[in-house]
Amino acid sequence: MSADADIARIRELRETLTRHNFRYYVLDDPILPDAEFDRLMRELEDLETRYPRYQSAASPTRTVGGQVSTTFSAVKHLEPMRSLANALDEEEFTEFDRRIRARLEREPIEYVAETKLDGLAISLVYEGGTLVRAATRGDGTTGEDVTANVCTIEHIPLHLNLRSPPVVVEVRGEIFFMSADFERLNREQEALGAKLFVNPRNAAAGSLRQLDPKVTAARPLSIYCYGIGHAEGLTLPATQAGVLDYLRSAGLPVSPETETVTGLNACLDYYRRLGERRATLGYEIDGSVFKVNDRDDQRRLGHVAKAPRWAIAYKFPPEEAITRVLDIDVQVGRTGQLTPVARLEPVVVGGVTVTNATLHNEDEIRRKDVRIGDTVVVRRAGDVIPAVVRVILEARPDDSVEFVMPDSVPEQALTQRIQALIHFASRRAMDIDGLGSKIIEQLCRAGLVNTPDELYGLSQETLAGLDRMAEKSAANLSEAISRSKQTTLPRFLYALGIREVGETTAASLAAALGTLDAIAGADAETLQAIPDVGPVVAQSVVDYFADEDNRLVVQRLIDAGVQWPLIEPPAAVESRFSGQTVVLTGTLESMTRDEARQALVARGAKVTGSVSKKTDLVVVGADAGSKAEKAERLGVEMVDEAEFIRRLETA
Ligand code: IVH
Repeated sequence: MSADADIARIRELRETLTRHNFRYYVLDDPILPDAEFDRLMRELEDLETRYPRYQSAASPTRTVGGQVSTTFSAVKHLEPMRSLANALDEEEFTEFDRRIRARLEREPIEYVAETKLDGLAISLVYEGGTLVRAATRGDGTTGEDVTANVCTIEHIPLHLNLRSPPVVVEVRGEIFFMSADFERLNREQEALGAKLFVNPRNAAAGSLRQLDPKVTAARPLSIYCYGIGHAEGLTLPATQAGVLDYLRSAGLPVSPETETVTGLNACLDYYRRLGERRATLGYEIDGSVFKVNDRDDQRRLGHVAKAPRWAIAYKFPPEEAITRVLDIDVQVGRTGQLTPVARLEPVVVGGVTVTNATLHNEDEIRRKDVRIGDTVVVRRAGDVIPAVVRVILEARPDDSVEFVMPDSVPEQALTQRIQALIHFASRRAMDIDGLGSKIIEQLCRAGLVNTPDELYGLSQETLAGLDRMAEKSAANLSEAISRSKQTTLPRFLYALGIREVGETTAASLAAALGTLDAIAGADAETLQAIPDVGPVVAQSVVDYFADEDNRLVVQRLIDAGVQWPLIEPPAAVESRFSGQTVVLTGTLESMTRDEARQALVARGAKVTGSVSKKTDLVVVGADAGSKAEKAERLGVEMVDEAEFIRRLETA
């Protein structure tokens, strides 16, 4: 690119970022996913580094947050509220640690690892132990006075729990919504016909910046405190860990996820562990924050324009991204149900390239107003199927096309429904005598039956109304349908038509796990330990029961009265492995991984794929790699193959 084009781009990026900052911080109504914002910010930072002449103190790369709105009175912070630099991958984090080691001329470095809460920053000023002012970050120098609102938040103490409170202490923290509280709030908004909040962060910002404190009071906001800004009459602890302890002792909520970690590997380990638990925390975080623990070191390191040098936010891969809807198709499920699917311009989300996203059903498309040609935000969190979250209406082209769900079921879907029902009724499955392919086809084409559960809702009169169906045959068929409700678990499993699950596999699943609930709730690893079940079958079973439509059909079948005699669950063998979590790594000489896994499961152990603090034992085969190293680091017991076999034999 030419220098002229670069300079024009600098101007364009500054404008775009300033506009988005305004939407995010002032209007509480952002349209860009955070990762996209970060990407544009990076591009601008790079350009400004290449063209130092064009640097400007007013650039969004140097300023924090948005302008201060005029709705609340302005408060000058006793000490600037800075932001954090980001590391977007391991390389960038490693580089951060390297810089710190070089500047402090020491290693390893002790850090405090914290969660990067996705809420909004708050400054709480306590004078003589009493809350006198609360302010948002604003532009970092001046914030908005939200004292009246903050006083309504239950988790924020109005008086510190200290025997001799300091003259002044300015506490820094993050206000956020617990996910469950956020969902409840949005349900209430929906019931009121009010606008829904895009995410918990915006809900928190919107709830705090209310003119009427009563509104804030009705919103169950949470807070975690993570630092102290200004202090008078208080000797601050020598470390960040000490600061957190002090905050806790004063009665302020501090995240329970904080840890003191030493050296790069311990940081990476914390980041990985936190990532694994991210979905179960009950609130949103977008990464972890690492802070040099020693406050003297912090002072030596100082800060750059808007962020300290002694801390960094190591972000998780973004779960949301922007892309375009190229088309909307209808996908036909195994049981014949229709699901609209958006075909997308490929985009990386949550670490994988996504080309399709579910739109769930027609109502969802209408509610979100998704059209072909739209620019949309897609989300993929954990293993969840990617979904279109919202449309960026501002980017809608004039020629966007509304999607019309086909009125009639396409022939392909109909054929699949018919095939699925023929299989369901067949002799070796539910064994419905007299329900042959001709009748099934009629039932499907007339729209009388779409999914197997609907067979059990057919009345004798309806059946008698079919072509060439005598009264007597209708009565017999009705009776046969009813009789089929009494079945066996293997037959039922086989009848569902789960891909890869034939009669033998169905029988093995039933024999090994005993109940439908156990089968539906088993993970791939548990399933693979069952004879006849390989990885493909296991995944297919997991996928089947992960599908909401399938679960619904199964539930309706049971509600209709389909039942089977209980199978005695196999007695769990008591052994020295009972209840242990074991990891297999490397190559074993005398048996395959699968055989080892089965032997362990048969003895009551749980076999998992990765080493954590919860692992009881790691079996180390030849050429074992990182898992063995990790076990060593965590102090988990390790055995070689010979010892493993000895234990198996004696267990
Ligand atoms: S420390 C001088 N710690 O992230 C360091 N900030 O991107 C200032 N945040 O404005 C912040 N969790 O709103 C810190 N454990 C944590 C945090 C955290 C979330 C927010 C905070 C800050 C923003 C910077």
